[in-house]
Amino acid sequence: MSVISKKKLDVTKISELPSPPGIVQNLYNLISDEDASSQEVARVVEKDQAFTARVLRLVNSPFYGFSRRIVSVEEAITMLGMNAIHQLLLATSLFNEFRNGSDSLKMGEFWQHSFGVGAIAKQLLAKKGRDLRNEAFMCGILHDIGRLVFIRLNADGFQDFYRERKAATDLEREEEYFGINHQEAGGFLAQRWYFPPSISSSIRYHHNPSLAGKHSLLVSAVHVADIICHAMDIGDSGCYYVSYFDPESWKKLEIDYSEIGSVLEKSGREIEESEQMMQQLTVNKAG
Ligand SMILES: [Fe+2]
Ligand SMILES: [Fe+2]
Repeated sequence: MSVISKKKLDVTKISELPSPPGIVQNLYNLISDEDASSQEVARVVEKDQAFTARVLRLVNSPFYGFSRRIVSVEEAITMLGMNAIHQLLLATSLFNEFRNGSDSLKMGEFWQHSFGVGAIAKQLLAKKGRDLRNEAFMCGILHDIGRLVFIRLNADGFQDFYRERKAATDLEREEEYFGINHQEAGGFLAQRWYFPPSISSSIRYHHNPSLAGKHSLLVSAVHVADIICHAMDIGDSGCYYVSYFDPESWKKLEIDYSEIGSVLEKSGREIEESEQMMQQLTVNKAG
């Protein structure tokens, strides 16, 4: 029997989670308005110099592979779309806010897992449209942020949870330790930070993709990518055992078994490039 005392997460503490920076809400409001122009979006983004510098660094990184240099936010919006810029803003802001991990889970390894899932999910949707692939990448990066909620609100409890690696599925163990699992905890953060529905669904349902409704293709890609990432031992998601594999999610991807080798090979390259992107995101300077 475990001697470690469980420290349940007080769900009312959710309101103590950090609020998103003003620009996150401003951009969300603007993008929710279907008539918003790329000039208007660019004007909001450019008010934040650090974020502007990051966007330009990212779009000019090898990850996106554009053949010419992108010099303005408006051009970046034209090349990537408003939604992609919004998602980049969410990812970079979360990076800043949750920079510190816990003594147990190292943030570098956590983000390595997250970027690995993003890169593989993108590759699993290689035959789909560019927007869906880019969205899959962001959904992968943010799928496990519920673990960051645990660390922020109950660092000691997370330490115990992480140390006591026993054979039970992680969702069950989280519910036992914290009263909610990391999908639900991430869902609270997603709501607070105005995440778009596709990313919220990936956070809430990546271990139960059959519940993801209209986002089931994206969430299935994240689900399968998560399993592959664990199998390849890429980074550290903060859990020890992978939850169950939903075979229906694999069917949804319409990938023939004969293609798996090439998907994994391309995923390897994608992971290397996404790690360069991760370094760009985590550079702690505006320029
Ligand atoms: Fe997860
Ligand atoms: Fe994960």
